[in-house]
Amino acid sequence: MTKRIPEPFRIKMVEPIRMTDRFFREKALAEAGLNPFLLRSEDVYIDLLSDSGTGAMSDRQWAGLLLGDEAYAGSRNFYRLAETVERLFGYPYTIPTHQGRGAEQIVFPELVKRCGSSAPVFLSNYHFDTTKAHVEIAGAKAINVLTKAAQDTARHDDWKGNFDLDALAAAIETHGPANVAGIVATVTCNSAGGQPVSMANLRAASELARDNGIPVVIDAARFAENAWFVQQREDGYAERSIRDIVREMMCYGDLLTLSANKDGLVNIGGLCAFRQDADLFRAVQVRCVPMEGFITYGGLTGRDMEAIAIGLEEVVETDHLAYRIGQVAYLGERLRHAGVPIQYPTGGHAVFVDAAAMLPDIPADRFPAHALACELYLEAGVRAVEIGSLMLGRDPATGKQEKSPLELLRLTIPRRVYINDHMDYIADALIAVAKRATSIRGLDFVYEPPILRHFTARFRWAEKATTVHLAEMADA
Ligand code: F0G
Repeated sequence: MTKRIPEPFRIKMVEPIRMTDRFFREKALAEAGLNPFLLRSEDVYIDLLSDSGTGAMSDRQWAGLLLGDEAYAGSRNFYRLAETVERLFGYPYTIPTHQGRGAEQIVFPELVKRCGSSAPVFLSNYHFDTTKAHVEIAGAKAINVLTKAAQDTARHDDWKGNFDLDALAAAIETHGPANVAGIVATVTCNSAGGQPVSMANLRAASELARDNGIPVVIDAARFAENAWFVQQREDGYAERSIRDIVREMMCYGDLLTLSANKDGLVNIGGLCAFRQDADLFRAVQVRCVPMEGFITYGGLTGRDMEAIAIGLEEVVETDHLAYRIGQVAYLGERLRHAGVPIQYPTGGHAVFVDAAAMLPDIPADRFPAHALACELYLEAGVRAVEIGSLMLGRDPATGKQEKSPLELLRLTIPRRVYINDHMDYIADALIAVAKRATSIRGLDFVYEPPILRHFTARFRWAEKATTVHLAEMADA
């Protein structure tokens, strides 16, 4: 059994959370249309919806808020942030943005414009949803070339976030290098389960890109967690510091987008940064002004930028990372030990439960992972999120439900918020749900919005015996 690593912090302030009874939760979930996204946060005991913006800031970060310089232009906090980015990543040109997607919306159109192709594509180990959206809004196509190892949740593989390098090379050839507007390396790979990308894989992907004159964008939302895995698992890195590993990871990119509400350890914020291309930097600055704000605040207050600068220094601390990744692994191990199928080994920010394996009788179009999310809330007041066919949606051309290759329930662990006893509580709850798996039903829509439906859809429990639907579904 994985060792419990004690919290590397003392608690200075507490926020009460409310335990509720089953009767209360039945009512709350019914009012939310059997969609945990529509629950009030106050009706949730442990919230595992996201690790994004849900972390706890340190006393130093809170103290930093008082140092905010709220000048419209040239805030000293901007300069501190830019210096921190340069020191950590080796990128001298920084533009702050309101969050990660703010960086995406000013970066991707510029890359498409520079590419100049009439059929531009981006290739990635896996585009996060908002990244894919901004690629598409910019008129390009988003193609994922993730290692096949990620699809076998039960089989151990150290690098389930890797690029499939053969598929990457083949895609460059098929589309032609001139049509590839960028290669996006998402570290860690959220959609595969917070799974790491090895340094060797990143280096090889970057070499392919450079040989073909294609810029590499690093989606650095969880850069420090990725560096931790490299240090722990990759030959030759055990003695290297996290800072050193981060520096090397970033030298394989040309620019990066960073959602600071993850490894920046703040509740909101983001940035993009550039390694050497000053022209690209200036062109993206031009886009920043009307979309995000002036180039030295980009939608953030001075105090926000101060907190990010401090958070970026704290997140590369070994004590933080050992505890953080250890806590996720501990939860995963407890579940695995009890026979609950998970994406194994666990990644950096979440445990991904394989709902298709756990609830084999529920077809993809009745959303096994979403059913599991509802049951987990009813059982214990724990809110988690479906990453599967519900999130994937319908084929826009045919209107048919697409079948996701994986039906996952993401138990996303906020940073520095819950302690290990909470992990035991979550594990006990899910194990109790697993014991009554055969009685769990799927869900049918009562209301299905046309786009991004998982956020606001409403459902009812389906009758049993639903396998007939599977045959009608398009293969993903
Ligand atoms: N890139 C990755 C890999 C992400 O996981 C996210 C957000 C973003 C970019 C966008 O950043 O939210 O600051 O605009 N992921 C969140 C999640 C929402 O729950 O996984 P943002």
